[in-house]
Amino acid sequence: MNPLEAALSDPWAALREVTDDPLHPGGAAATRDLMDRADVAAGTRLLDAGCGGGESLALAAERGAHPLGLDRDPGLDEELAVDAPVVRGDLGTFPVRDDSLDVVLAECTLCLSDDVEGTLAEARRALDEGGRLALSDVVTDGDEPRLPPFVAGALCLTNGKDRDRERLRARVEGAGFEIRGVRDHREDLLAMRDQVAEQVDLDGLLTLMGDRGDDLREQASELAGRVEDGTIGYVSLVAEAV
Ligand SMILES: C[S@@+](CC[C@H](N)C(=O)[O-])C[C@H]1O[C@@H](n2cnc3c(N)ncnc32)[C@H](O)[C@@H]1O
Repeated sequence: MNPLEAALSDPWAALREVTDDPLHPGGAAATRDLMDRADVAAGTRLLDAGCGGGESLALAAERGAHPLGLDRDPGLDEELAVDAPVVRGDLGTFPVRDDSLDVVLAECTLCLSDDVEGTLAEARRALDEGGRLALSDVVTDGDEPRLPPFVAGALCLTNGKDRDRERLRARVEGAGFEIRGVRDHREDLLAMRDQVAEQVDLDGLLTLMGDRGDDLREQASELAGRVEDGTIGYVSLVAEAV
């Protein structure tokens, strides 16, 4: 396996080598902003659905919130950025009782769920009256990006169809939420792309892959064009349980 394939087989661990920030466009600043908009404060009962290495759990704990993490593949205890409970599990089942949370945070994870409606229904079930869903996600307009599945997964571009802004809004509202506001993160997405490009010699790695690398180079260039023209984007939203 060449280094690019190795990195893509465990993309979140590979990305953590490049950044200490949470693994989504905008990093910790975007998480703080999202938490402000969702009123995360002392005493807030928060579940981070797809918490990864726990960086956002740490930001919630800094505010005096009571964070709980859920991830299919969480960092090991000693690697977690925070001393908070983290449950190993799937986004289809939240490990909490009905009406027991104030905030469900889902940063760059809803798109990875096998059942987006099911995950949103779980968020609604778990949230108490007035509870907030705080999510950020990749959105795509137009055709599904042309990528091999292992690359699409690493770039949060799986299930690339039907993931435009309007459909995201409709799904959230359909699950029993009223949207407070949506924010566009185009600049954050471009900056993350540049940060990774600065630190990873993608061209060199693709060269090592021969013909397959040439195909991937072409697809990466198409992808860059889609980010530039905004048909692949990143948005955040806060929605209140109604
Ligand atoms: C792009 S990372 C985002 C991590 C974190 N939310 C952040 O912003 O730093 C996606 C995370 O979702 C987790 N994940 C992906 N699919 C999942 C699933 N079906 N159930 C639970 N966790 C999942 C991955 O293990 C990974 O930690």
